Amino acid sequence: MAAPEPQRETEPPAEAKLPPGGLWTKLTESTTESPGHLAEQLLLSLRSRNGPQAPTLHDEFMLNQLLARLGLEIEQQVDVETNRFSRRFLHDLFHTYFAGPGTRESTIEGSTYLELGCGSMNPLSLLTVFVLLGAKRAIGVDLDPVHDVSIAARALARTASYLLTDPRLIVGDYPITREQVAHNVRSLDLLKLCQGDPSGLDESLLAFRNESVYELSLDDDSVDGVFSNSFLEHIEDLDRAIEEIARVTRKHGIGCHNIDGEDHGSHTDPDQHPLAFLTVEPERGLVRGCNRLRPLSYLPIFESHGFEILDTQIWGRQPVDDTLRAKFVEPFRSMPLDRLEVSGLIIRIRKL
Ligand SMILES: C[S@@+](CC[C@H](N)C(=O)[O-])C[C@H]1O[C@@H](n2cnc3c(N)ncnc32)[C@H](O)[C@@H]1O
Repeated sequence: MAAPEPQRETEPPAEAKLPPGGLWTKLTESTTESPGHLAEQLLLSLRSRNGPQAPTLHDEFMLNQLLARLGLEIEQQVDVETNRFSRRFLHDLFHTYFAGPGTRESTIEGSTYLELGCGSMNPLSLLTVFVLLGAKRAIGVDLDPVHDVSIAARALARTASYLLTDPRLIVGDYPITREQVAHNVRSLDLLKLCQGDPSGLDESLLAFRNESVYELSLDDDSVDGVFSNSFLEHIEDLDRAIEEIARVTRKHGIGCHNIDGEDHGSHTDPDQHPLAFLTVEPERGLVRGCNRLRPLSYLPIFESHGFEILDTQIWGRQPVDDTLRAKFVEPFRSMPLDRLEVSGLIIRIRKL
């Protein structure tokens, strides 16, 4: 008789059945060693090291084990969406870009992708996923230069290691095997990337461009998909930016843009209302870094530049009563409630 299956404490999401060896569980379960406990031990160890007695070899050995355990523990604890280096962030962003009608059915194999405002910390990890799924070319664009090139390179090697271990850790049920990833990974020099050397990237395949969305160094009709996350709300001249997106997108090319239409001051200050910026009379275009355009108002701009709206997904809504509305400046004060209240939106589009 077969032995009963051991009870699992953490169920894998429906899209990801357990890979051999229970890796999913290991990557998602918390362990008994909290980082706080490990940090306490580390502090004690460091104090005794700096004490009157010279540290012994054993002290050094134990210190190194503590540092290593703490590093591994921290990596697990920060596997959260807000950490731009985490597996969770890549997993969630991939599903944002590729889970909806239009994008879900598109073929990554052989396609060219552009991520706008890809960030300066870990700018190319998501695009590395596309390349390992068979994309022909992937370009990340941001106005800020890469914050730390060596760390960004190492992050790409780690992204590759997740997909090589089991693609489901990042792409869920997207149809790709480990063997296909292993084939595609030959275009990256993982050893160099692991060592923080960006020359491990073949720039004709995967590249970062430090430039503005207003003037993309890409040919007309050269891209099959354009994506952005928390980017378009920071753009002052949206009409010009979307005109440029339309210029580089091929006929029937797709796009997915996640818009955070809340006052970004409220992300760090709990006393700031998420719509507080609508009460400010702007001196210039952006208020606290944002254009304040209500997310549903992006739709006609995309349409006016030759895109059809495939799908919208509202993820944020802020109720507005008469007292709050009275504090808003125009045009927000007289805007219809159903447009005003939507504060977070994913827009999926296709070029006609
Ligand atoms: C809120 S961050 C989002 C970064 C990243 N997408 C993420 O989810 O972490 C917005 C990014 O847009 C970039 N950005 C702002 N204006 C830009 C422009 N005109 N062209 C290209 N990038 C721009 C900023 O440098 C910043 O990295």
